[in-house]
Amino acid sequence: MTKRIVSGVQPTGNLHLGNYLGAIRRWVDIQNDAQCLFFLADLHAITVPQDPEKLLASVRETTAAYIACGIDPKKSIIFPQSAIAAHSELAWILSCHTPMGWMNRMTQFKEKAGKDKEKAPLGLYSYPVLMAADILLYKATHVPVGEDQKQHIELARDIAGAFNREVKMDFFPLPEPMIGQEAARIMSLRDGTKKMSKSDESDYSRINLTDDLEAIALKFRKAKSDMVEGMSLAEDRPEAANLLGIYAALKGISKEQAVRECGDLNFSAFKNLLTEVAIEKLSPITKKMRELLASPGDIDAVLKDGTQRATEISAKTMSQIKDLIGFIKLT
Ligand code: ADP
Ligand code: TRP
Repeated sequence: MTKRIVSGVQPTGNLHLGNYLGAIRRWVDIQNDAQCLFFLADLHAITVPQDPEKLLASVRETTAAYIACGIDPKKSIIFPQSAIAAHSELAWILSCHTPMGWMNRMTQFKEKAGKDKEKAPLGLYSYPVLMAADILLYKATHVPVGEDQKQHIELARDIAGAFNREVKMDFFPLPEPMIGQEAARIMSLRDGTKKMSKSDESDYSRINLTDDLEAIALKFRKAKSDMVEGMSLAEDRPEAANLLGIYAALKGISKEQAVRECGDLNFSAFKNLLTEVAIEKLSPITKKMRELLASPGDIDAVLKDGTQRATEISAKTMSQIKDLIGFIKLT
């Protein structure tokens, strides 16, 4: 079976270092060995309230980030999820093959729904089925994501298996999660036990891909530290381990190597070094993003081309599915 890769990020602003190191940067390396589709998960974004203007701007900004990070729109297919209605259509069909019991086990829903689950929107609950549709619509074999999405990929495998059993054939490949060893989970700069996230209220918790040099320096300077001497990966020092992990991921070395290089430094000297490394890696990306965003027409052209190419694949899958289910085709 040919390798096909699908992944996406929600265009909800504040694309951060965790998104870059845990997901997007890894896409760049794999786009040479397989057909890749990288989309802007705007249908997922509306599972929580969104401002229409910000959502629209964020789709372009995230596209610019993909390209600035090294995704080549000639090789990879980049498109907005909402431009292809088949994502929602397949999500409905798959939801008819998904037991509620499987959905009730999804930990991200429990975290995101908050205390009053009765008030949570149905879309937030059924989101993993839409994610399964995103993947299966293109018969993806591999899905590169950060650790937090692993459970959703496992659900997509289960749903694919349930559908295959129903239609008595290996229609969908069972998608494999591709979770990186390093940087699978970058933590908040304010709390080493919490994931760095776009939705964290404090901007000091994350390094955004749009942050300028001063902001990067300030955020690392203010990052939570401890009073222990030297830098180590000790379990009771989550902040030290996180910053060492970020340093290692940015330099493309192991965390152990980072400790060998920097173990003797105190927290503030290490933060200075980390700031230098981060600025060196991130400033070309930020610069390229700014250039791209100055020509929104070019970004839209990339998305339009990507939508056409993605539609060629998705239309074929949907047509086969309709035949398998017994839906009428009026020509
Ligand atoms: P967020 O959780 O910040 O809203 P998304 O859910 O849109 O970000 O995640 C987009 C991609 O980035 C996913 O593949 C996800 O696994 C990865 N990712 C998000 N946060 C982190 C993190 N802190 N460390 C590593 N990878 C992350
Ligand atoms: N749910 C993912 C996130 O929040 C984004 C996403 C949506 C995705 N559909 C996908 C990732 C399909 C990989 C494959 O990060």
